[in-house]
Amino acid sequence: MQNNEIKHYDHIVIGSGLAGLSSALHLAKSGRSVAVVTKRSIEECNSRLAQGGVACVMDRLDTFDEHVQDTLTAGAGLCKEDVVRAIVEEGPAAIAELIELGAKFTTRGDLGYQDGRSEFDLGREGGHHKRRVLHAGDITGAELERVMIEAVRARPNITVFEYHIAVDLVISRRLDQTAPNRCFGAYVLDINANRVITFLAPSTLIACGGTGKVYLYTSNPDVACGSGIAMAYRAGAQIANMEFVQFHPTILHHPTIRSFLISEALRGEGAVLKCRETKGAEPVEFMHKYHPMKSLAPRDVVARAIDSEMKRTGEECVYLDIRMHSEEELKRRFPNIFAKCLEAGVNMAHDLIPVVPAAHFMCGGIKTGIDGASSIEGLYAVGESACTGLHGANRLASNSLLEALVVSRFAAASIDRNFAKFKKNHPTRTEPCHWTSGNATDSDELVVIAHNWDEIRRFMWDYVGIYRTDKRLERAKNRIKLIRKEIEKYYWDFKVTADLIELRNIATVAELIIDCALQRHESRGLNFNADYPFLDPELDCVDTVIQRKF
Ligand code: SIN
Repeated sequence: MQNNEIKHYDHIVIGSGLAGLSSALHLAKSGRSVAVVTKRSIEECNSRLAQGGVACVMDRLDTFDEHVQDTLTAGAGLCKEDVVRAIVEEGPAAIAELIELGAKFTTRGDLGYQDGRSEFDLGREGGHHKRRVLHAGDITGAELERVMIEAVRARPNITVFEYHIAVDLVISRRLDQTAPNRCFGAYVLDINANRVITFLAPSTLIACGGTGKVYLYTSNPDVACGSGIAMAYRAGAQIANMEFVQFHPTILHHPTIRSFLISEALRGEGAVLKCRETKGAEPVEFMHKYHPMKSLAPRDVVARAIDSEMKRTGEECVYLDIRMHSEEELKRRFPNIFAKCLEAGVNMAHDLIPVVPAAHFMCGGIKTGIDGASSIEGLYAVGESACTGLHGANRLASNSLLEALVVSRFAAASIDRNFAKFKKNHPTRTEPCHWTSGNATDSDELVVIAHNWDEIRRFMWDYVGIYRTDKRLERAKNRIKLIRKEIEKYYWDFKVTADLIELRNIATVAELIIDCALQRHESRGLNFNADYPFLDPELDCVDTVIQRKF
């Protein structure tokens, strides 16, 4: 199958979450043309679901040093301190810009406080020693997306292509290795028209979000297939630290309401974790056995503690107790969570909330500098697809929206500075850069896609989850090798569809996670391997880097 349609832009942004739209807006300031490619509607992204907020030093009782220190502590020896500091210190400017665009963060006045403390209500989450999480009720991500979408739509030089899914990057490889490979754009499937278009641009920025759908249980929406990381890997970019998958400790446990996050902000307001010692017994607190910060310990500690208590007691969930607050207070501070719990038959003011851990955030990704530049010239990555060095071995809560906002600014500035260089040697408007794949026949066995999809997500949960061993990882490796072979054959034999593209990406990302986990012979942050239960100080600051061999 071949397609000849080519679209030319100055910049391509793949993904319409906070990182993508913020990057597009900053790039568009130059007046150059920007294409935003997104596989569903512009609203559909992981950022929109963020409840907690944006971590940022805004209170006179807080300092940059303390935010840096909390980030480094959570990151367990793998953060890059200069990157952490630069992002933390740029936070207030990024927030000011958001407010100028119209973002409405909850103020203490909104909540009825009149205590003279800082204007914004600042939440607290696991691992933060200070209140520093700006939020818009408990739908912060939705508020930020609203503002970004409005701003993007108001920019005539940004064109948004909805229901367009990127298939692969357009790359020129330097076989002599004398210079970095170059990225010229992306092959993109127009889902509605069912044809592949070549998008060419001197700069391409990946902001495709995370990888939650690689796991059976996740807080992430369906779009989180790790597609940006998978494409960059196939193109030859360096990928780092994929073993560090963050499991959020508290997803609502309910037979039909799936993937609903119960924000860590509840624990910031005093909620405590409890579990039943035996069936029918009154649930009791347990986090004091695991960490001095108890229920507000860093997320890796809390998720592992819950996993261990559930295995020990044989219970299928643990509980969050926030009954110390009145119904009125809870409705005011957590309106969305309150309503969802009520739909599940749980009144947070009177009942315990049943919760379980689930895959939530990928700390690794496309290895970039603080400016989002990858190891391939002209290719940038921002947000959850990228690994800048901010999160290290475990992300501090609400640092990710901050990273998306700040690094998108740095990335746009870096692209601006390098634009002339990227433009040189860019394919001319007449040079062919067509997409070809093996065959144009429709598949007669779509069951293969659904089956492989389910199988990957199941064994990743069972073998590459919160508690790992080498034996489990080897099992997963054997399975993923077979499945990937099958998918590649399927990919080249049949007409490409959005489902097949996503399955292929999920399989690539699953293998990257397994390979990175097999390479790290220690337990650190989010990577716990019972065969290497201790942290190896020799591996402080040592990333796991993977790059495809051609
Ligand atoms: C939460 O609200 O608990 C999630 C925030 C985050 O993942 O940073």
